[in-house]
Amino acid sequence: MATLTAPAIRVQGVTKAFKDLQVLRGVDFEVERGSIFALLGSNGAGKTTLVRILSTLLKADGGAATVQGFDVASAPNDVRDAISLTGQFAAVDEILTGRENLVLVAKLRHLKDPGAVADDLLARFSLTDAGGRRAGTYSGGMRRRLDIAMSLIGNPPVIFLDEPTTGLDPQARIEVWDTVKELANGGTTVLLTTQYLDEAEQLADRIAILHEGTIIQNGTLAELKRLLPQAKVEYVEKQPSLEEVFLALVGPSAASAPEPVEGPDTTKEAVK
Ligand SMILES: Nc1ncnc2c1ncn2[C@@H]1O[C@H](COP(=O)(O)OP(=O)(O)OP(=O)(O)O)[C@@H](O)[C@H]1O
Ligand SMILES: [Mg+2]
Repeated sequence: MATLTAPAIRVQGVTKAFKDLQVLRGVDFEVERGSIFALLGSNGAGKTTLVRILSTLLKADGGAATVQGFDVASAPNDVRDAISLTGQFAAVDEILTGRENLVLVAKLRHLKDPGAVADDLLARFSLTDAGGRRAGTYSGGMRRRLDIAMSLIGNPPVIFLDEPTTGLDPQARIEVWDTVKELANGGTTVLLTTQYLDEAEQLADRIAILHEGTIIQNGTLAELKRLLPQAKVEYVEKQPSLEEVFLALVGPSAASAPEPVEGPDTTKEAVK
């Protein structure tokens, strides 16, 4: 059956204009099942527009796209059953508690035991203690985590994350990154958009660059790096990055935070 063998996402010649503004001029790419695909582009490049087309919120003018083998234009309901979307702006209800937000989505998805689903996700996203508090009182990172948790309800095979870490501090970003990696390890296909090169570098199996309406490059990180002239080896004094200093001072709350540094690291090392 086509739906079992097709790539998780296939985009062919997709075009979209808003009046005179031609945003997408023929976008092509494929995303393998179970992989993390990063769509990189500057403000206004059309990332959100493309995500809205793939999640059936917006119709393309031309071209075709499938998700899990289903055509977004002719089988939107099948596509919707297969995806979840975490939009660029957190979609949590601020009046409800974190737990109530999760229960609400679980009910909307007609799951059997919404309370248990909510409690599971709260634990998985380190929100158990905050679960009874109004989401309006959450920090940006907590809100993002809750938002992603909400999008996982019902275990959709494909998830779209539109700029999942914009506006988050370095610790919260690492927490979100860990969550995304965990999802992909569990077999979920993730398409994320980002303006951050380091985010794509950290997470993505493949990276595509959307620029002036088309994908100008698409490859693994190693392939993209090979596009630049051969690296020259030179010796430099390696200073810790501001992010490393920040994480060292604030404490290694996230599992993947680097060890605290005890002062400027002046080890000489070769860099590319
Ligand atoms: N509904 C709409 N009506 C008119 N213009 C729109 C609409 N949606 C998007 N645009 C325009 O299309 C272009 C692409 O917008 P889009 O939101 O897809 O960019 P983006 O890559 O997601 O940018 P950002 O990184 O800022 O989120 C922008 O110039 C935007 O103003
Ligand atoms: Mg956007």
